[in-house]
Amino acid sequence: MKNFQNKTELSNFIGTLKANGNTIGFVPTMGALHNGHLSLVRKGLVDNDIVVVSVFVNPTQFDNKEDLNTYPRTLEADIALLKTLSNDQIIIYAPTEDDIYGNQVESQHFSFEGLEHEMEGAFRDGHFDGVGTIVKRLFEIVTPDRAYFGEKDFQQLQIIRKLVELYSLSVEVIGCPIHRAEDGLAMSSRNERLTPVHRNIAPFIYETLTTAKLKFGTESAKDVTEWVYEQFKKQPLLKLEYFNIADIATLKPIKQTASDNFRDNKSYRAFIAVYAGDIRLIDNIALN
Ligand code: PAJ
Repeated sequence: MKNFQNKTELSNFIGTLKANGNTIGFVPTMGALHNGHLSLVRKGLVDNDIVVVSVFVNPTQFDNKEDLNTYPRTLEADIALLKTLSNDQIIIYAPTEDDIYGNQVESQHFSFEGLEHEMEGAFRDGHFDGVGTIVKRLFEIVTPDRAYFGEKDFQQLQIIRKLVELYSLSVEVIGCPIHRAEDGLAMSSRNERLTPVHRNIAPFIYETLTTAKLKFGTESAKDVTEWVYEQFKKQPLLKLEYFNIADIATLKPIKQTASDNFRDNKSYRAFIAVYAGDIRLIDNIALN
């Protein structure tokens, strides 16, 4: 399996592949790969001749130093997992910080038409500037035909779509469904850091989302939201940071009555962020 640390070498190699008529899929990751990541790579392998998987813990998207320092780094295991999917169709790009940022480890500032101010943007200062900076740079290096992002980070997916639109980038952005553990917990590299007690209670997040979805059939967004806050008050092991029902185009919370929920042709999703001990978990669910 080809494994590059250097952007120029990778670009040259991809240039030759493209000149020979190969299509390139791209799955950007921060490593500590799990089945959620692999589902994106599998989809990429179906759609393209070659899939580039980047593994880079991007410092500029972390607002919390502790989270950055403790983020799992497991490159050898990541490579072994990717080999189980394909040895000759996957290319790994695992750059150093220097290869990406040189001596200026900082973000470009972006305006994503307000998408960046909601939810994760409101609670994680500068997060989407960091994500926009790294993904734009990676797109320039990899020049993919298609790029795959998980709905697990739905706000990120919408922001990447906006990035591609605003900068007229020639890459097709493909959203992929959330991969879950058997008990419903959305897979995440951070799950490995949960204590057994928190891992045990964490499926409560998805259980609450599925009930919220049922309730949205007959109740207003405001009532459903209040109900969710009540549930978490009864659950001392989990601390709710936010729960929102939002229009997926604007990501702004909706304020309508229950009878309107299915009348317009908008799509709504419920979004949640929860602390399980020190570990911050996010999830979301389509409502209609
Ligand atoms: P990371 O958290 O490693 O996730 C990489 C990709 O895998 C993202 O598109 C994410 O949405 C997707 N993913 C993670 N868990 C998933 C799950 N359970 N089901 C489906 N897809 C899942 O997201 C990032 O890295 C970074 O912000 C990045 C885009 C790489 C920029 O640094």
